[in-house]
Amino acid sequence: MAEPSRTEQRKAEHVNIILEENVSAEYNFWNDVRLVHEALPEIDLDDIDTSVKLLGRRLEAPLVISSMTGGFGMGREINENLARGAAEVGVAMGVGSQRAALEKPELEDTYAVVKDHAVPLRFANLGAPQLVPQGAKRAYGPADAKRAMDMVGAHALIVHLNFLQEVVQPEGDRRARGVLSAVKALAARFPVMAKETGAGISRRTALALKKAGVKAIDVGGLGGTSFSAVEYYRARKEASTMKERLGATFWNWGIPTPASVVLSDVGLPIVATGGVRTGLDVAKGIALGATASGMARPLLEAAKASPEAVAAELRGVVEELKAAMFLTGASSIEELRERHAVVARPTADWLELADEG
Ligand SMILES: Cc1cc2nc3c(=O)[nH]c(=O)nc-3n(C[C@H](O)[C@H](O)[C@H](O)COP(=O)(O)O)c2cc1C
Repeated sequence: MAEPSRTEQRKAEHVNIILEENVSAEYNFWNDVRLVHEALPEIDLDDIDTSVKLLGRRLEAPLVISSMTGGFGMGREINENLARGAAEVGVAMGVGSQRAALEKPELEDTYAVVKDHAVPLRFANLGAPQLVPQGAKRAYGPADAKRAMDMVGAHALIVHLNFLQEVVQPEGDRRARGVLSAVKALAARFPVMAKETGAGISRRTALALKKAGVKAIDVGGLGGTSFSAVEYYRARKEASTMKERLGATFWNWGIPTPASVVLSDVGLPIVATGGVRTGLDVAKGIALGATASGMARPLLEAAKASPEAVAAELRGVVEELKAAMFLTGASSIEELRERHAVVARPTADWLELADEG
């Protein structure tokens, strides 16, 4: 194979940094959310049904393995292990940004491997900044989106919004004007889920995305993996003082994930991603209004080990979710969505914004 491209190198660096360094936001906002215990659940644990429909596809549990990788050697193995785990447990899965393979078709296989497994809902992935021209780089349009979707046999396309990462990344894209109408053009042809990557979605953005025709929103909020932190470490390695400074300053920038779930409630299915570490966190997201939750980093660690480790981690999360459902007397995901969640500060402070248009 030819020399690794800049995009390929970046993919490998992201995975290595995320596995080796502490790149979490300083505070996990799921700590601020509590569910109300029911001492008399009046349901049987074994009757609990965790299945859910997302974008017309039935999942055994309300879980999405968040978009992570592909586009470099180890990416293939990681995607294969994730897809095997997802198929076994019956949950959704996304691949990482497919730009690397659109630029260099010999990398397609590192993403396409997920097609070999019966994952009930597969997401393709493109970055919003690539939907408008950046310097000499042309904009991706519907033909590229179709290629990306066909590559992984996708049921839907994720367009990720990552302007925080771009602004702290040494080689980051600088243009955001025109992205919304580009998303609208894609949403007219494909089922699109808009997804943040760690800084959350405000009510204003959620309403704009709904108007643009997206079919679901993954809030990708603050509290888990921080891409500012990841880029901070990359900038340090490259001795890029200014970007290192930006990465450190914006390490904890964004809307807390649980708050973003509430703010994004504009009548579309919501995926709660960002700092979800247990099935109890999944239950909290659903009680706040989400349809499913997304997890990235814990599953990356498992996928580095084996497909069995991915399935075991997913099963652990499902058992925790079931326990939370039992203890709140919810026998289905719909019932769990009606359960009350108590939200403490600092997350509670953000909920006041829900009243603003
Ligand atoms: C190694 C790695 C690579 C990622 N690459 C992408 C990507 O290409 N596209 C995307 O939409 N999100 C990407 N993400 C973000 C995740 O999908 C997720 O939104 C974020 O990591 C927060 O979840 P977590 O706290 O469970 O890690 C990546 C995350 C990780 C850990």
